[in-house]
Amino acid sequence: MTGPAVRLPPEARAFGERLRTARHVAVLTGAGVSAESGIPTFREALTGLWARYRPEDLATPAAFARHPEIVWQWYAWRREIVQRASPNPGHRALARLERLVPRFTLVTQNVDGLHQRAGSARVYELHGNLLRTRCSQEGVVVPRWVEGPVPPRCPRCGAPLRPDVVWFGEVLPADALEAAWAAAAACDVFLSVGTSNLVEPAASIPWIAASQGAAVLIVNTTPEGQRCGPTVQVLVGRAGELLPALVAAAWPETGTAD
Ligand code: APR
Repeated sequence: MTGPAVRLPPEARAFGERLRTARHVAVLTGAGVSAESGIPTFREALTGLWARYRPEDLATPAAFARHPEIVWQWYAWRREIVQRASPNPGHRALARLERLVPRFTLVTQNVDGLHQRAGSARVYELHGNLLRTRCSQEGVVVPRWVEGPVPPRCPRCGAPLRPDVVWFGEVLPADALEAAWAAAAACDVFLSVGTSNLVEPAASIPWIAASQGAAVLIVNTTPEGQRCGPTVQVLVGRAGELLPALVAAAWPETGTAD
């Protein structure tokens, strides 16, 4: 592939230096990192046939109890979009970064599995993954089932299967949340990429890193609404362009290798 399409501003090049010498880099990603792969956000996906539904009709335990077939179909449709999509250069730059720094922690709010498909070895998923399915009664992940009823049934206990995602009103997976907090407290460089940083508890994670003195870089197409601080820098633009440029600036000898 060719070199980076964008030139970084001078302060971002300085951040590249910080990245190169970092001992532990932690990254939080959100919907923006998958935007260039064509994955609509949850709300953007509420169009066409789905326009008459509200989020609470589709992504709550109560909605699943009331209309399990509609909820299953909503996730089946979004799963198809994700399966047709491919990781973009932003996902791939993060996978490369994982191999370049001594310690790396990637935490995502996305449920699309694109980081893993880009080659990231360890991904902490705060909101689950819509490509996985689990038993609504026992919570175990169920990789296979007999096609038939919608939603399909757990082959072990017969309960309806549900997507392995976190719905409104549900708690986030403790292991992912604890790993995110620990990494934010221990890292020396933190990247917050493509997230509005509005939804708690994920929204606090970059500020835990900033309050511990880590250098924080926010990569987002819109700077509005992001909190600032003495160690926080905002880089405005697309993750799929800026992340490869940042990694190439920090490790010029590797090129973009995309
Ligand atoms: N590169 C970088 N940033 C981008 C890009 C891009 N190509 N495209 C969009 N963005 C930014 C937007 O400016 C916005 O700040 O990505 C952010 C996406 O914000 P949200 O849609 O709120 O997504 P996220 O932060 O992941 O939301 C967290 O909130 O709505 C719920 O369930 C949803 O899990 C999600 C959670």
